[in-house]
Amino acid sequence: MAKKILLSGIQPTGAPHVGNYFGMMKQVIDLQNEYETYGMIVNYHALTTISNKTELEENTKNVVLDFLAIGADPEKMILFKQSDVPEHVELTWIFNCLVTMPWLSRAHAFKDKTDKGIEASVGLFDYPVLMAADILLYDTEVVPVGEDQRQHVEMAREIARKFNANYGDTFAEPKEMIKAEVAIVPGTDGQKMSKSYGNTIPLFGTDEEIQKAVMSIVTDSGTDIPANVYAIHKLFKTEADLAPIYEENKGKYKALKDALLADILAFVTPMRERREYYVNNPDLVAEILRKGSEKANAKASAKMQDVRKKVGLD
Ligand code: ADP
Ligand code: TRP
Repeated sequence: MAKKILLSGIQPTGAPHVGNYFGMMKQVIDLQNEYETYGMIVNYHALTTISNKTELEENTKNVVLDFLAIGADPEKMILFKQSDVPEHVELTWIFNCLVTMPWLSRAHAFKDKTDKGIEASVGLFDYPVLMAADILLYDTEVVPVGEDQRQHVEMAREIARKFNANYGDTFAEPKEMIKAEVAIVPGTDGQKMSKSYGNTIPLFGTDEEIQKAVMSIVTDSGTDIPANVYAIHKLFKTEADLAPIYEENKGKYKALKDALLADILAFVTPMRERREYYVNNPDLVAEILRKGSEKANAKASAKMQDVRKKVGLD
């Protein structure tokens, strides 16, 4: 039986953090055996916030390495750069002519980003349509993401429905996959961990950077168990394993943070080693991306051919 199709994307906009890892990246890795899996570095999306060439190139390279480091197996999943498949942009245009400005204005992420001072470019406004094209081009059924992306996947579903109603059955309706326990991973201040809140623990930071982040976790004095430390710690150890540690160190915040730090470092050590291996083998990485884009292109171009016919562009 054919495997179900899973796809997710990450913007190369900075170093991935523990929230990105548990919220999204880990799901992709865990499911790569079970699904036909597409892992995409969405560099067209990143253009909505990065206008420096070197920064975009460096970030892109780094996110590819991060994905390989956490266990992306190029024999099992298709890892590729969005810009290697220009059909994403072509399909976006066709969808643009199908959706309306008032409908697109409902997207929360656009408002959140412009409230934070990001310029309201047409590209930023159109972000959800490009994301819909990403998803629908591959007949994706499952999209692992964090809670903040729920609405975007819903919008992709609505676009699929509208296209199918107008032009005949063409696109599968995708479903978001959001794991409740990690839908909103908290940061060092207890709010959602996010690059834009400065409350992250970088997944591939140096020991010092990770230590600094862990030591900065906000603790409320007077409680036996520092809630913010515990909330992050339970990502790395089961609650059963944590129980004796927190019992023994009631109220000892420094000791508990040290224990968390040791667990994070132990967790990332094998990933760092794998990352180092790929850093030292750039030709291998280039080859992985080349093969990934070849497979993605084959699928996307077949789908686009069908779309062109259906809309009258053939
Ligand atoms: P950030 O908010 O730090 O800019 P991104 O928007 O680049 O993160 O998110 C990349 C992926 O990681 C998305 O699927 C997003 O839903 C997920 N993600 C980001 N932060 C978290 C978090 N704190 N908890 C769970 N998932 C998250
Ligand atoms: N918008 C997603 C984010 O900010 C990234 C993304 C782009 C994506 N295209 C996608 C995620 C397709 C899943 C599927 O994290």
